[in-house]
Formats: sequence, structure tokens, C-alpha cells
Amino acid sequence: MHLQIILGSQMKGAVLYEVINNVAVLTVDNPPVNPLSDGVRQGAFDGMVRAEEDPNVKAIVITGKGRAFIAGADISEFGGTGEGHSLNEVFRKIEFSSKPVVAAINGLALGGGLETALCCNYRIASKEAFMGLPEVNLGLLPGAGGTQRLPRLIGPSEALKMIISGAHISANKAYSLGVVDLISDNILEDSIKFALDKAQSADHHPKVRDLNEKVIEARGSDNVLIEAKALAAKTRKGQFAPGQIIKCIEAAIDCDDFDEGLKKEGEYFLECLLHPQREAMIHIFFGERAASKIVDVPKETQLKKISSAAVIGSGTMGGGIAMCFANAGIPVHIIDQDANNLKRGIGVIEANYSYMVKRGRINEDQKNSVFGLITSSLNYEDIKNVDIVVEAVYENLELKTSIFKSLDEHVNSDAILASNTSGLDIDSIAQATNRPEKVVGTHFFSPANIMRLLEVVRGDASSHETLATVMSLGKKLKKASVVSLNAPGFIGNRMLSGYTTQANMLLLEGALPHQVDQALESFGMSMGPFRMLDLVGLDLGWRARKLGGKDAPLASKINDELCEQGRFGQKNSKGFYNYSEGSRAPNPAPENEDVYRRISANNGIERRDISDEEIVDRCILSLVNEGAQILSEGVAQRAVDMDVVYINGYGFPIWRGGPMHHANTLGIKEVVERLNKYKVLTKDASFTPSKMLLELAANGKKLENAPEINDREEKLAFNSPSVGNKNF
Ligand code: 3HC
Repeated sequence: MHLQIILGSQMKGAVLYEVINNVAVLTVDNPPVNPLSDGVRQGAFDGMVRAEEDPNVKAIVITGKGRAFIAGADISEFGGTGEGHSLNEVFRKIEFSSKPVVAAINGLALGGGLETALCCNYRIASKEAFMGLPEVNLGLLPGAGGTQRLPRLIGPSEALKMIISGAHISANKAYSLGVVDLISDNILEDSIKFALDKAQSADHHPKVRDLNEKVIEARGSDNVLIEAKALAAKTRKGQFAPGQIIKCIEAAIDCDDFDEGLKKEGEYFLECLLHPQREAMIHIFFGERAASKIVDVPKETQLKKISSAAVIGSGTMGGGIAMCFANAGIPVHIIDQDANNLKRGIGVIEANYSYMVKRGRINEDQKNSVFGLITSSLNYEDIKNVDIVVEAVYENLELKTSIFKSLDEHVNSDAILASNTSGLDIDSIAQATNRPEKVVGTHFFSPANIMRLLEVVRGDASSHETLATVMSLGKKLKKASVVSLNAPGFIGNRMLSGYTTQANMLLLEGALPHQVDQALESFGMSMGPFRMLDLVGLDLGWRARKLGGKDAPLASKINDELCEQGRFGQKNSKGFYNYSEGSRAPNPAPENEDVYRRISANNGIERRDISDEEIVDRCILSLVNEGAQILSEGVAQRAVDMDVVYINGYGFPIWRGGPMHHANTLGIKEVVERLNKYKVLTKDASFTPSKMLLELAANGKKLENAPEINDREEKLAFNSPSVGNKNF
């Protein structure tokens, strides 16, 4: 038994210090993932001093307690004043230690965590460890030497790829790149032995800061930086941090003096830290974690174990959902009623995996093992023992209700039954079963294996266990899960409807599709509304209206007229735009302009020049106004939930932090003023500011100050028949 001392514990987190076989072991202890909070920095600093001063200590090992080595700087400290030792002070202590220091990377090593390891003389990783520099996802760059040390270790080109993508790499990959020196099955024991051997040998203990060969090699050619700029432009459009990262690596390549490069990194880091994108992206980091929690479902709620799943329907959605389960290692059985459909659906899944192999994302063995988790048949008997079923047939309440009746009869009574409905009433579906408490909506977004958003729809009877289990399953499936009350359109589609209505009205008032799309894409939306409508198909709404014998509302009149002319969107190469054979690139369709002019005139609308500012304001503020209404009804739990929905499901730019964060940035008072201005200009009542916005504006508050659902008048909303207009 070795004496263990706790260092730094008066603050957040600590470092445990013990000496084993003449090796000082510093174990970071800051659950659950060991970020470098003030207590950890203090503990690490004190631990290094103690180890250096103790003549019995010959070497030092730094490791982490639990599943993580170190998850990086403490993100909650950004924007604050920063107490105690800075990371760079701690890192200098490690890097200039008189005794060899080994990083025993026992688990995840991210951001400042990997940067800690890069200050050590040696790095050993356990097989399960993974590492990366994901700061870019927070609007930041690795600001504690990562941009200067990593290129020295693995070369500027690989370093740029890792830092701009923010990707996590496995221990094996890290070894092959040269990030770590060894992989171990027995990380602590091996690291202690390795450290002692090194201390006793006459070896020089390398410092990454001194390894100049790879950066010098890259001097004199701009290729690496040009490639990085192209990568950033393609994958991180509109973001500030990637440009700063490239400047840091340029400094690493060009500066002979390591400390000069480090100084530049510090300056570029500070600019990121002060940039509004940093605040927006950290808002989303914590927002996604907040959204995964349901206010009135206790943390300790028992979860049902999900070891197997079934999906009903082998179409695009069903296939994508089945892939999500298989990718997470959960065996999944697909049921379809039609053998040909099933064969085609399984073929599409296999083709998707083959495409991933072709792109080098997985290898053939991985494909076989994941695809091997997917089975299929025509018979409900084959899924009687699964833990969860996700129904993914087309949107028809009668059909879904009858499927749930059959599922209730065939599948063991413990199983959760979920519907991938995008808008039908979950309570009606639940009532068809004898287990309404185990029924829930799981609204995946297409393509389900790629899109991160999962709207979890809470029925009146959905139990805490069911909800907690599905939220936890969402995390396993790598989704950003957000809970919505069972109300028309749930969260995302209800907000979208005001947004597309405004886009269509702008068309009637004088704008053209490419102007609207360009304005919103310049704002940062990944795809403008008319490109999106062309992609989805203009005929969907048109057919539904025809079937229901309904006239097109004013905002859909152009859409429906285009359909009457056989323009259905990308599927037949003409819609709001024209498409060349086999291409998805939109070309303007001047032949449509007569239609726009005629419909404007027929409806007494005088066409005018419309500014990009008006386009963005009307579309985006419609999202905000509807979002505030949704919040006050309790359909969403918090403002940030809607930000998470819009970023992960609707292409809203993450660096703006979502529509509700955008509204906070503008100021709620300003939002209200602009809504009122557009209400006067357009005489459109939908611009009437919601009561919640008016109250927040009057009190100078932000949307995140809206009271949590339990404090609101509508707190009974989850069970109240009055919520929303259940006109599904
Ligand atoms: N700082 C503060 N809190 C953190 C944190 C961090 N770096 N990383 C995770 N947490 C918190 C989460 O907010 C969450 O808190 P909660 O339980 O109260 O909601 C808790 O730790 C667990 O996190 P997750 O739910 O995300 O756990 P997972 O197991 O799903 O994921 C993870 C773990 C992969 C580490 C993920 O949390 C993650 O990606 N964290 C961020 C890593 C990162 O970006 N590091 C770089 C930080 S910036 C930096 O280092 C700057 C430096 O260069 C100067």
C-alpha cells in the first residue's frame, strides 16, 4: 500500500500523489472526465514540485483516474477570470522537469489533455485510449502548445488534419502517426516500469519542443497550408477558428524559436476566446448535454437495458435507423411486409456500407461485422424478444395504429415501442396498445444514419423509465437527443413552417429563389429554403393538399403552380431551379419568373426590391418567434433545446449558436422591434411578438432566463389536453 496524498482539492478537481517503486505517480481526479480545472492545475503543479524535490523519486508518471486521462481544459472556465496556475505554467513545470516524465494515457486525452501528454518526455497509451485536439468544435484552437508541439511530432500536414477536423483518433492510429511511443495492455504498471528504466538509463529524454526536423522540412512550400485552407473552407464554412489554427501552424513552420511560435499561438487563441463564435459554440456544447436531461425525470431513474432492436419498415428511414443500431453494436432485425421491398432495403444498406469502405471510412472486416448485426424477415414472430422496436413506415395514423396493435400482441410486454413519426399523435398510437407507458416517439431525421438530431416525443403516458432509456439510447446511437411534448409539428417542423412560409412570401413580394437562398446561405444556413424544397420534392405538399381537397394557402400557391407544370424538384430535374442530368447543382430557372409575377398580381401583391437583410430577418425571426411560443407552451423544455434541434437537424450554423442564441445576441428588445417592423410592413399577424418575448424584452432578459418548465404556469402541459391544437 502506498501513501496517497490529495493535492489541489480545495478547488475543483485534484491530483492524487503517490510514490511507487521510486516513481511519483500523479493521478488526475476530476470526475467524470478529468478536465484541467483549477484544482487539477494546482495539484499537478504541486505534484511536480514535490516529485522534483524528493530524492527518492527517479521518474514521474502522469495518468488519469477512471475512464479518462484528461478531457482538456475546463470548458466552464472559459469567459471567466481564471484562478490559480495557468496551463502554460503547469506545462513548463512538466516539460522542464529534471526527471523523466511519462504520460500514461489510460483513456480519452483531448485538447489540453493531449497537450499535457505532449509536454511529457514519453507517451504510452492503453489500447482503449483515444485522443484528439477538438478545440475547433468550441470555436477555439489548441492554446496550450498543441499547435506548436503536434506538428513537430507528426508533421504539419497530419497535425493540420487532426486540429481542423477536431477528430478523435484511436491509440493504434496515434501510434502509427507517432503521437505515442508505445501501446500497453497494462498501462500503469508498464508506464511505471518504463519510466524507471528510462531514469536508470543514460538516454537523453526527448522534449517535443526540440524536434524541429518535420517543421523545417515543410518550410518553403505553401502546399500544406493551401490544402488546409481548402479543407477548412469545405468543412468549416464561416468559422473563425480554422483560419487562426492555420496561422499557428504557419508560425510553427516558420519560427526558429519555439517560444516565439508559442507566443503567437497565445495571441491567436486569445482572439478566438474573445470571438462571439466561441461563446456560441460552447453554448451548444453545454446545450446538447442539458437537452439530454428531462427536467422532471430523476437522474437515478432505472434504465431498461437495450441489447437488441427491431425496425418496422425497410424504406429510407427504416434502413437508416437500422444502421444507427448496428453502428452502435446493437443487433437489429428489420421487418417489412413485402419481400421485394425488404430485399431492396437491405441492398441499399449494404451499398451504404460498401460506399463507406470505398471512401476508407471503414475496412471490409468492419463492414462485415456491422452489416452482420442486421437481420431481416417478414414475420413479427421473429422480433418477440427484442428490447425496443422502432416503427418507420410512412405517415398514416391508421397504418401506424394497426402496426402498434400487432406489435403489442407479438413483442414481449417489457419492450419499448417507438414510432418514427414526424408529426402524428403519439398518444393515439399509444392508446392502441396495452402498454402506453412504454410508447414514445423517436423522430429521426433523414438520412438517419448521418443526421445527428433525434426528437424524442413524450406521450401523455410515456413513463420515466421509457423516456430515460430512450434518451440514453440516443447517446449510444451518437445522436443529439431533444425531448418534445406531443404537439403538432413537435419542435423542429413547427418552427420550420414559419421559416418556409416567409421564404415563399418573399418570393411573392419580389425576391427570386436564388436571392433568398444566397442571403440565408451567407447567413450560414447549410442550404437555402428553395434548394431544400427542391431536394425534398415540391409534389409532397401539393399531392397532400389535392388528396384532402384543400386549396393551396397563399404561401404555397407558387409551389403548387410549379407542380401543375410538372416541376417537382430535383427528382425530375426541375423545380424552383433547373438541374442538369446527374447533377445537384441548382441553375436559375428564368422560365418560372412569369409564374411568380402572375401569382403576385392575382393576389394583389405589388412586387418590390427586397434586401438580403429583410430576407434573413423575416425567415430567422420567424423561427425565433415560434420558438418562444413553443417554449411558453412547454413543448420544449428550454431555449437551448431549440438551438440543438436547429443545428443538428436543419442546417443552422453552429457558430451562431442556434436561432434562440442568435436572438439573445441581437438582444430580445431588438428582436421585438424588428418583429413589429415586419408586422407593419407585411400586415402578417405571425410577426406579432410572442408574449414570452415581450416579457423578456420588458425585463431586459434573455431567452435562457425563461423560467424552467416546472416554474411556469403551463407546468401541467405534459399531461394537459389543452397543449397545442391536436389537429394531426
Ligand atoms: N470541461 C468541463 N466539463 C467537461 C469537459 C471539459 N473539457 N468535458 C466534458 N465535461 C463534462 C460535460 O459537460 C458533462 O457534464 P454533465 O454530466 O454535467 O452534463 C460531463 O463532463 C460528461 O461529459 P459527456 O456527457 O460529454 O460524456 P461523454 O462520455 O459522452 O463524452 C467527452 C466525454 C468525449 C470527453 C466529451 O465530454 C467531450 O468531447 N468533451 C470536450 C472535450 C474537449 O473539447 N476538450 C478540449 C477543451 S478546450 C481545451 O482543452 C483548450 C486548450 O487547448 C487550452
